[in-house]
Amino acid sequence: MVTKTEKVIKMTNSGGEISLIKQIQELKEQRSAIILAHNYQRDEVQDIADFVGDSLELSQRAAQTDAKVIIFCGVRFMAETAAILSPGKRVLLPDGEAGCPLADMATAEQLRREKSRYPDATVVCYVNSSAEVKAESDYCCTSANATAIVDKLRNSSSILFVPDQHLGSYAATTTGIKLILWPGYCYVHVGILPEDIHRAKEQHPGAKVMVHPECTPEVIALADKVASTGGMCRYAHETDAAEIIVGTEIGMLHPLRKENPSKKFFPVTEKAVCHDMKLTTLEKILHSLQEMQSEVKIPESTRLRAKRAVERMVETIA
Ligand code: 13P
Ligand code: SF4
Repeated sequence: MVTKTEKVIKMTNSGGEISLIKQIQELKEQRSAIILAHNYQRDEVQDIADFVGDSLELSQRAAQTDAKVIIFCGVRFMAETAAILSPGKRVLLPDGEAGCPLADMATAEQLRREKSRYPDATVVCYVNSSAEVKAESDYCCTSANATAIVDKLRNSSSILFVPDQHLGSYAATTTGIKLILWPGYCYVHVGILPEDIHRAKEQHPGAKVMVHPECTPEVIALADKVASTGGMCRYAHETDAAEIIVGTEIGMLHPLRKENPSKKFFPVTEKAVCHDMKLTTLEKILHSLQEMQSEVKIPESTRLRAKRAVERMVETIA
C-alpha cells in the first residue's frame, strides 16, 4: 500500500525517481540501522520510524536493539542518552543542530558550583540535560518516573533537582518532599497558559484535559491527567472520554489520533511548537544514512559516569 507521505513524495519527484521513503528503507537495511522517533517529530518522520515513543521508551529501545546504527529523530540529549547506553552502536542525529533549550539551561560547570553549595544533596537530573550534566548527577529521571525517583529518595538529607523547575515542582507536590529547584524551564510548555486551558474547555465542555509535567503549576492544577508523552498515549487508550484536550507540543496529536481513530483530540494551543523537534525531515534522514552523519560521540569517562546515573534510575524504578 502506498502511504500518504509516499504519495506526496512521488508527486514531487519527477520521471519515475525512486521515492525518498524507498531510498531510506533500502539504505536502512544496508546499514543495519533502526529509526527511532520522539512523539513530537513531524508526522511523516513518525510514520517512517521503527519505533515512536517518549524519552524513557526511546532510551530503552536504543539499549535493546541489535541494530548497528541508530538514526535518532529527536533532539541531542535523547541521542546522547542512546549513545550512553549503547557504546558499540553508531548513533546519528539527522540534524546536528537539533538541541533542547531546556537542557542548555544547565552546564556541568554550573552544576559543580551548585553542588559545592549543597555538598550533602543528592542530585537528580531530568533526562533533558547534557551527558556532562548527567555525569555530575547521582540519578537521572524522565517525565515518566520523576515522581517515583524522588519518592524513593525521601530519606536523603536534601535533593537538588536539575534543570526543569516545573517537573521538579510537580514531583515535590505529589510526593510532599521539598526539593532544591534549578531555575530552568521549557519555553514550549511554559507558553501554555491557564487561559488557553479555560478557552479549550469552553469550546469542548465534555473533554478531559491532559498536560505534560513541564507545564506550570497553574496549568497542571487545571488538568485531569498529568503525564509524559508515553503516558498520554496510554491514558488516551484507557480513558472512557471520547474527547481529550492535549496540553503539550502539537506533534503529540499525530500518534494520539493514529492510535485512537474513534476519539477526538484538540490542542490546547496551536502555538505549542518545539522548533528543534521539527528540524528533522525525511531528506535529512536520507542524508544522514548516506553520509553517516551527524554522529553523536561522548568521551568514554563522561559516558561511564553518565551511565551510572541512568542505570540508577532504571534500578530504582524496576
Ligand atoms: P517525554 O519524555 O514525556 O517524551 O518528554 C520529552 C520532552 O522533551 C518534553 O518536552
Ligand atoms: Fe526541550 Fe521543550 Fe523541545 Fe522538549 S519541547 S525538546 S523540553 S524545548
